[in-house]
Amino acid sequence: MGRRETVIILDYGSQYAQLIARRVRECRVYSELLPWDTPGEEITKLNPKAFILSGGPASVYEEDAPSLPPYVIESNLPVLGICYGMQLLAHHLGGRVAPAGRREYGPARLRVLQPDPLFEGLPETMQVWMSHSDRVEEMPPDFITLACTDNSPCAVMVHRTRPIYGIQFHPEVVHTPYGRNIIANFLFKVCGLDATWTPGSFIEESVARIRNQVGDGKAIAALSGGVDSSVAAAIVGKAIGKRLTCIFVDHGLLREGESSRVLSLLRKHLDAQIVLVEAKERFLRKLRGVTDPEEKRRIIGEEFIRVFEEEASQLKDAKFLVQGTIYPDVIESRASATGKAAARIKTHHNVGGLPADMRFELIEPLRYLFKDEVREVGLALGLPEELIYRQPFPGPGLAVRILGEVTEERLRILRAADAIVTEEVERAGLAKELWQYFAILTPIRSVGVRGDARAYDYVVAIRAVLSTDGMTADWARLPYELLARISGRIVNEVPGVGRVVYDITPKPPATIEWE
Ligand code: XMP
Repeated sequence: MGRRETVIILDYGSQYAQLIARRVRECRVYSELLPWDTPGEEITKLNPKAFILSGGPASVYEEDAPSLPPYVIESNLPVLGICYGMQLLAHHLGGRVAPAGRREYGPARLRVLQPDPLFEGLPETMQVWMSHSDRVEEMPPDFITLACTDNSPCAVMVHRTRPIYGIQFHPEVVHTPYGRNIIANFLFKVCGLDATWTPGSFIEESVARIRNQVGDGKAIAALSGGVDSSVAAAIVGKAIGKRLTCIFVDHGLLREGESSRVLSLLRKHLDAQIVLVEAKERFLRKLRGVTDPEEKRRIIGEEFIRVFEEEASQLKDAKFLVQGTIYPDVIESRASATGKAAARIKTHHNVGGLPADMRFELIEPLRYLFKDEVREVGLALGLPEELIYRQPFPGPGLAVRILGEVTEERLRILRAADAIVTEEVERAGLAKELWQYFAILTPIRSVGVRGDARAYDYVVAIRAVLSTDGMTADWARLPYELLARISGRIVNEVPGVGRVVYDITPKPPATIEWE
């Protein structure tokens, strides 16, 4: 197998930079998104075959504007500059960039002026998405204009003899309908790359790399039942089999029947040893009397680590620890290290976030995958859809869906109500369309009538949201009939609940979870 070829995407701060990486990978070509000032030695290690320069908020003529590393042009590899990336090429190669008369934002009609491999198979005019205030006023020497819009006389430029392209619009966003084709043309027609980066080739490479890293050693992994930790364990299991021990901690905060269902799926599909730790009592004891949401999260995170450490210490010869870190985590933590990250609202302790002083060497097989790629790899590894398409579930479990103190009794009520929500949403065939759907137990009690008697019971809230990444969300317009069935069943079947309400708040300003 040849060395993996990489398209390097230099990140100049565009909100769409991750999307460029995803589009390239959708073409089955491996790409990585790196900060624009990444040293050349690091780039060389990745076996680069082309560069894409992202957009960004700066102006090239500002002092301290992010610049073009010399290796990009010196490498003689193909280059595609997008928006700021185009302006950077123009500025650097002797052209002139200036503020456009007015800021151009939104759809524009692109007219192709000259045939080129970049536009092969595409119409002569097409809609594209613009978002810029500067533009190229004078092209650098030896460049020609390939396409224009009403506002940008030079919307696409190319060097006469070398594969260096600049495009003013954003091919990576869905509002540029032929954007995918343009990116594919760049990769296949201009760069001559092959579409060889598939889930199968990824698994093959990873297995070889893990075998090499672990040798005849042993590894451990924490399983939460979530997609990432399951897929990470499955790859490592494929590489080293029973020398991997997976620890599944049941903290007693899972949904109805969840721990046994997930465990039996994992036992069936993972080639590894699986240890179940029943730690319900420990967690509930620690949570007694605690009502503050962040305090609950902290206690659960810490207790999880304790339990895991105790189990791990019994496996003395395990030197490696598997973690389900995925690419967005890597990109975000890199951005926060340079002070660029978006503010975080809640601490998302992932089950498996372990202290630095544990003396393990890390195996992070999913470190360079986006979430949908993790799912594809999981399916290619033979994991069942039931595991791969599970709805996201917070590490601290039902504790953040019980407002106030977590007790056995409240867990019982919430589990029963939540099971009804799940059952009815699935029966209505809506499960796949929704990002999440669940019940919340509020600490509020309200008055009702049961028979002829006054009742005073808990209020349960239902949350069902649509989202693509969990960062923003809207409440789902569930059919009234479905809501009626859910509410009717909960008040009739779950003792202790007297009223059901539906949460109609988007994120932001509300979060998806209630705590
Ligand atoms: P929020 O409530 O912040 O949630 O809008 C966004 C997404 O993250 C999930 N979530 C968590 N996931 N550990 C996790 O692994 C956590 O502590 C945690 N808290 C929230 C939440 O279910 C939603 O999908």
